[in-house]
Amino acid sequence: MRIFWIPFLLFITAAVLILSEHTRKKAGNGIKKEASGSQSPDTTWWGWNHYQIPDYTEEGKLIEYGYRLIANTSYYMGPKGTVATLTNGMNCQNCHLNGGTVPFGNNFGKVFATYPLYRARNDGIQDIYMRVNDCFERSLNGKPLDTASKEMQAIYAYLKWVGEDVPKGKAYKGTSIMRLPFLNRAADPLKGSIVYRAQCERCHGADGAGMLNIEGTGYTYPPLWGAHSFNDGAGLFRIRSFAGFVKNNMPQGTTYLSPQLTDEEAWDVAAYVLSKPRPKFDQSADWPVLKKKPVDAPYGPYIDSFSERQHKYGPFGPIELAQAAYK
Ligand code: HEC
Ligand code: HEC
Repeated sequence: MRIFWIPFLLFITAAVLILSEHTRKKAGNGIKKEASGSQSPDTTWWGWNHYQIPDYTEEGKLIEYGYRLIANTSYYMGPKGTVATLTNGMNCQNCHLNGGTVPFGNNFGKVFATYPLYRARNDGIQDIYMRVNDCFERSLNGKPLDTASKEMQAIYAYLKWVGEDVPKGKAYKGTSIMRLPFLNRAADPLKGSIVYRAQCERCHGADGAGMLNIEGTGYTYPPLWGAHSFNDGAGLFRIRSFAGFVKNNMPQGTTYLSPQLTDEEAWDVAAYVLSKPRPKFDQSADWPVLKKKPVDAPYGPYIDSFSERQHKYGPFGPIELAQAAYK
């Protein structure tokens, strides 16, 4: 009889361990050290909650300002910006959810730990300032921010604070965006339009333009295409990034623990959104070393002879196979 209790007790112990771990992270603690042993194998990174910013110190005030710039970029630097007019009306946080603290929510978990780093897109070493300005110029379809400005220093201070406890060179599970496995067919804009109507349109609009907030200082629902969206040089314009972001974060309220879309739906809706018009960015200098160009880079030239269309939508398997010969 008693033997039946053993699995039950084990189950309860495991449940308690998992729950307490979850609450700790929910409370906003970044991971302090790598979990060891079988009791807590989950090393998923959750960022600090911005309420934990020590805003009673000078440094804390700068961090807090950095947080506000990331959460309300448009209020400060958008078309009607109070500090400058540099960006398209979107906020960093529209894509870097909750101040860049959410697992697979395009978070900032590895930024401070890994930059400066070599980046194939510009075939050179990139520091945090350059990376932030990439998002200013591409994701926010705007102008770069002066590195010496208080605003850039504040954004830097925030990125440092949020990622400070991640060891140098380390990327925990859940940092950035999930890389979804490739489909063995091309992603299909037509199928994606059905997903879009059912799962996205009610917020992002039939025309993809989203919805401005009442004050016009930012978006209640940010645009997915059209004049006010990210441009075609942005990270999200690559279908694998878009699909991975959407899979784990959309419709709004979705987390990586409870995705609403199948992988196929995520790829197809990505294809649909990315088939729509958006601002252009001169990316002729991107990926000067062709063999390092990602397979889903949507513009040529390429090291292989596949079309731009196939590089944009797939199928990617044959491209990977052909490229393996050059690597
Ligand atoms: C339209 C969506 C979007 C917006 C808006 C946006 N970003 Fe990004 N950002 C991305 C994507 C996509 C990546 C690349 C993620 C990847 O490839 O893992 C990225 C990458 C980054 C990175 C490097 C992350 C890493 O782990 O290497 C930083 C830092 C960053 N963004 C900062 C910002 C800041 C600051 C703003 C606002 C000024 C901003 N971003 C606005 C989409 C966006
Ligand atoms: C209930 C409303 C809602 C639904 C439904 C929804 N979204 Fe979003 N979406 C948002 C909001 C709000 C944000 C900005 C998040 C933030 O600022 O915290 C966002 C952000 C985004 C972003 C990054 C910012 C941008 O504008 O590029 C993408 C991409 C996106 N959504 C795609 C989708 C797709 C694809 C679907 C359908 C599968 C979808 N969303 C469904 C509300 C929604």
